[in-house]
Amino acid sequence: MKSDMKESGEASFTLNGKTVDLPVFKGVHGPDVVDIRKFYKETSAFTFDPGFTSTASCESKITFIDGDEGVLLYRGYPIEQLAEHSDFLEVAYLLLNGELPDRAEAERFDQSITLHTMVHEQLKNFYGGFRRDAHPMAIMVGVVGALSAFYHDSTDINDPKQRQIAIHRMIAKMPTIAAMAYKYSIGQAFVFPRNDLDYTSNFMRMCFAVQAEEYECNEVLCDALDKIFILHMDHEQNASTSTVRLAGSSGANPFACIAAGIASLWGPAHGGANEAALNMLEEIGTADRIPEFIARAKDKDDPFRLMGFGHRVYKNYDPRAKVMRKACHDVLDALGVREEPLLQVAMELEKIALEDEYFVSKKLYPNIDFYSGITLRALGFPTDMFTVLFALARTVGWIAQWREMIEDPNQKIGRPRQIYTGPSERDYVPINKRA
Ligand code: CMC
Repeated sequence: MKSDMKESGEASFTLNGKTVDLPVFKGVHGPDVVDIRKFYKETSAFTFDPGFTSTASCESKITFIDGDEGVLLYRGYPIEQLAEHSDFLEVAYLLLNGELPDRAEAERFDQSITLHTMVHEQLKNFYGGFRRDAHPMAIMVGVVGALSAFYHDSTDINDPKQRQIAIHRMIAKMPTIAAMAYKYSIGQAFVFPRNDLDYTSNFMRMCFAVQAEEYECNEVLCDALDKIFILHMDHEQNASTSTVRLAGSSGANPFACIAAGIASLWGPAHGGANEAALNMLEEIGTADRIPEFIARAKDKDDPFRLMGFGHRVYKNYDPRAKVMRKACHDVLDALGVREEPLLQVAMELEKIALEDEYFVSKKLYPNIDFYSGITLRALGFPTDMFTVLFALARTVGWIAQWREMIEDPNQKIGRPRQIYTGPSERDYVPINKRA
């Protein structure tokens, strides 16, 4: 990857009487970045930034978020436009290659992904090793990690062709693996992929078809799920994406790196919030109980938070939430359950919170998870599959970011430093002399 960082000035830093000049870079959008690469060499000091709240870990050309304005761009295109006009594989192509495909490129890409949707027969054996009640994310971590033992012809990460095959395999097999995890958990036979269907319809079919009957995918529902996938495909250097980059920075197998990303996504502070938002709406139950929950959310002595509100980066309405809200209405309309009580509670809660001084002053707006739980449940997915669907979509972002990292000449193995506050050096004490 060619670096496009433009030097725009210098910052001076003085420590213990020594001044060091550090270059400042400008990106296309976003804040300036102080380049501290030579900081340690020149000052013998480290910087301290747990959680990377002030640290850019890499240069990237894939995704941009402006949290104050509520903007999310994939390769420069606003997420709202992509969700409205594009589809999963076209956005995948865009994230991977930087530009929207022309017709021939789109056809070649679709065909390559379609040809890789089946999994090795022996991969099936891994599922049988899991308990039936295993969380599908546990199965995903295991089975995706196991892919690294199957495809030796596509794991030389220094060969661009092999990287390409690994990427296409990963994107193509993810729906098959995720649907198999679901089928296993409910005790139904696996359903093979069908190559005449589009990416999302094929996934819906692999989840909900049974051998005994024909399955027809409802177009509105498939379209809504396709939008949900597009909204979740990439989100800059979040925890799971940074995990994939860090794992990959050592030159590790790409499938194993994606398994690491899935593990990171599983946590409730990351991919698990949609499940929590749905549970909260169920707990609230009826609109008349909303004031009680709003009061709890504001109470400093109560750990309760309004799930689906607030975001580390967005201090404005999450642009994904706007699209999600509409998709949620479309799905409930298509299913004829517009009067779904949870939706009524959600809409009323959103209205009240958007006018409430506490939420307004803290810039706590609905995030993507506020409406995605209701939608996914209406589509027929159980709550423990919600994060799996997130993983399926985010795989595209992970693998695009992984490739960008491998192709970046500035890439080094990720190796953060620390401030050590443990015991100072001391001598070993034999067991009979320990107090
Ligand atoms: N309900 C009530 N108060 C809240 C909420 C909430 N949902 N979110 C933040 N606050 C308050 C918080 O108590 C704090 O108040 P004070 O300044 O008086 O101490 C202030 O707002 C700032 O909160 P913070 O925890 O310092 O902010 P953060 O950036 O560390 O946290 C967050 C972001 C998403 C973890 C948090 O807003 C939250 O817990 N939200 C609910 C969970 C949720 O919906 N998560 C999904 C995030 S979107 C998924 C994704 O993109 O991966």
